Amino acid sequence: MALFDSELLYDGSVTRPGPPDSQAFYKAFETEAPGGPLEGSAVIAGDSATALRSLPEGTFQTCVTSPPYWSLRDYHIPGQIGLEPTIDEYLNNLVKVFAEVRRTLREDGTLWLNVGDSYTSGNRTWRAPDRKNRGRAMEVRPSTPDGLKPKDLIGVPWRLAFALQADGWFLRTDIIWNKPNCQPESVKDRPTRCHEYIFLFTKSERYFYDNEARRGPNGRNLRTVWDVMTRPYEEAHFATFPPDLVEPCITLSSRPTDFVLDPFLGSGTTAVVAAAMRRRFVGIELNPEYARLAMKRLSNIIVQR
Ligand SMILES: C[S@@+](CC[C@H](N)C(=O)[O-])C[C@H]1O[C@@H](n2cnc3c(N)ncnc32)[C@H](O)[C@@H]1O
Repeated sequence: MALFDSELLYDGSVTRPGPPDSQAFYKAFETEAPGGPLEGSAVIAGDSATALRSLPEGTFQTCVTSPPYWSLRDYHIPGQIGLEPTIDEYLNNLVKVFAEVRRTLREDGTLWLNVGDSYTSGNRTWRAPDRKNRGRAMEVRPSTPDGLKPKDLIGVPWRLAFALQADGWFLRTDIIWNKPNCQPESVKDRPTRCHEYIFLFTKSERYFYDNEARRGPNGRNLRTVWDVMTRPYEEAHFATFPPDLVEPCITLSSRPTDFVLDPFLGSGTTAVVAAAMRRRFVGIELNPEYARLAMKRLSNIIVQR
């Protein structure tokens, strides 16, 4: 018997009014079995800040997420984050979402945040079409942020890290995600970029982190450079998390039946890994097509077990 109902109850409209406790509105997808290990898990199709406001504080043990990168990709849905004309608006929007994440985290909870960097556009105001996948790239590039020059690396991850730190988060470490199979780049005046950042933030000074749960080579404490191959999920036309990147985050910072959050669920990788590890999950995704894709992946993994 499938544990999950694969029908979306909510159509994804971000403006639909409703009291914050209207669960049918938000809980698009829920486990059937009361008392089961994944009870209360949900995929919510909607805007993350709005949806999070309806959830009680202190719910999640950890959050593992990757928000849209700034000015990189059009997810073709009104209300999406990432298309802001300025970097400051983008950062402000994310700080607001993550303030809700912090409210809904347990006092000893953690946030693992992956975000990519980009370069200023120079004098180009448009992007070359992506021939392989028309939906992948954006058609316009925002102008160069104040204080930067053409060809400057923007430093988006650190700007976001400092903005979140200023908003009250404890910034505990940066992790370099080294991609041994990274995409080649057609650049000749700098090395090819093959890494991204993951930041570990906490709500409090003391927090749940089981350093014994995952050790590095020779049993040493885990290091801050993680080699993880990218693994595109073929049905998603955007960058998806490799499960091997999500798994250590969940292992180190939660126990079975704890709630794991991803407010930018995309194709559902965080929820799929959490479910496979018997953690409960809530995933929020603005684009109902992607939310459906996530539910399909979840149905597959749950039915197969
Ligand atoms: C980088 S992708 C996440 C990919 C995901 N980690 C995976 O493994 O598939 C970011 C996602 O955020 C979604 N998104 C953009 N704005 C949003 C918003 N305001 N609320 C909820 N989701 C949003 C996009 O539709 C996209 O699916």
